[in-house]
Amino acid sequence: MDELLELGVNVANFDIVDNGEQHEYLLFQKVDVTSREQVEAAVVATVERFGTIDAVVNNAGINIPRLLIDLKDPYGKYELDDATFDKIIMINQKGLYLVSQAVGRILVEKKNGVIINMASEAGLEGSERQSAYAATKAAVYSYTRSWAKELGKHNVRVVGIAPGIMEATGLRTLAYEEALGYTRGKTVDEIRAGYASTSTTPLGRSGKLSEVADLVAYYISDRASYITGITTNVAGGKTRG
Ligand SMILES: NC(=O)c1ccc[n+]([C@@H]2O[C@H](COP(=O)([O-])OP(=O)(O)OC[C@H]3O[C@@H](n4cnc5c(N)ncnc54)[C@H](O)[C@@H]3O)[C@@H](O)[C@H]2O)c1
Repeated sequence: MDELLELGVNVANFDIVDNGEQHEYLLFQKVDVTSREQVEAAVVATVERFGTIDAVVNNAGINIPRLLIDLKDPYGKYELDDATFDKIIMINQKGLYLVSQAVGRILVEKKNGVIINMASEAGLEGSERQSAYAATKAAVYSYTRSWAKELGKHNVRVVGIAPGIMEATGLRTLAYEEALGYTRGKTVDEIRAGYASTSTTPLGRSGKLSEVADLVAYYISDRASYITGITTNVAGGKTRG
């Protein structure tokens, strides 16, 4: 968000958690992206505040590591269950669709705009012990390709970003680390020590969030005016989930 604000872009942030940030150029709205009612109301409020919408970044997403079958503890806490499956699909896929549709109506009407979908490098190759997450991210690649075909005639571009291993974000909660540890047979401390290990990343380091923001800035600019339907890796060369 900071990178966009620095470029003079007005930003409307929809999030289920209020981070307390709010000023003249930054409108925060507490929105559950899985709720059509909340998404549509927030889009209306954004247009009221800033006059229109030119681009949207579908960034909201969750990852809950789970085993398909836990031989040590069948039907246990870390085996994929219906509620977890539904939750991941609802946020990572339904949320993306609802926001894209609500904002897309505005972009199509004015025949200009960009939809940016946050995929994951894991969506390409699958990810052991995170299958539901990886599947939703594979779906994100597909929505990007399909909506680019559908909306291109209206001069609306649809593009994706696939981050690899990134610096710490809100995703790394204790519950996430415990689940990751359990499914990998490691302790939370071992999981934390592993963050620094970047042997699977050719550039040898984790990515900065600003490096994702830089691609967003490029995508929304006219410099990317002939780019649509693709998802770009921001993963330091890592190509397997
Ligand atoms: N961090 C990584 O290494 C990484 C790698 C690949 C892809 N991604 C993707 O990048 C995106 C951002 O993830 P992040 O790592 O910054 O995690 P994050 O947890 O910091 O950000 C995700 C945001 O989504 C919000 N959110 C969750 N459920 C929501 C809901 N129902 N409605 C509205 N907002 C909701 C959360 O409150 C949070 O602010 C996600 O789509 C994630 O899958 C992250």
